[in-house]
Amino acid sequence: MPQISFAADIKPLFRTIDISHMTPFGVELDDYTYMSNPDNAKSVYETLSPHGAEPPSMPPGGPYWTPAQLALFAQWQKDGYQP
Ligand code: HEM
Repeated sequence: MPQISFAADIKPLFRTIDISHMTPFGVELDDYTYMSNPDNAKSVYETLSPHGAEPPSMPPGGPYWTPAQLALFAQWQKDGYQP
């Protein structure tokens, strides 16, 4: 399988409303430089993931990412944050 790319595979998973709500908080979901920082990618992944019986914290109220979308993001991290 080719490596997961931020521009082609990850960035399109964020909606316009996600990007516009989070940018003022300094969470730049559409910005490769921000997202390829491993600490930032980890925080974002955490907010998108369910925790036991708790639903994900982001986006508030959903729609939550599917297991397939979360797996894609995790693989992108594993692959070394390809642009
Ligand atoms: C480090 C990662 C993140 C942090 C710390 C964070 C934090 C926050 C906070 C504090 C708010 C405002 C309060 C609230 O409505 O709960 C908010 C709103 C929001 N966040 Fe995030 N967020 C993160 C990642 C994300 C991600 C990954 C998405 C979507 C994929 C997202 C989508 C949204 C949306 C759509 C809102 C506005 C909700 C509304 O006003 O109805 N956020 N976020």
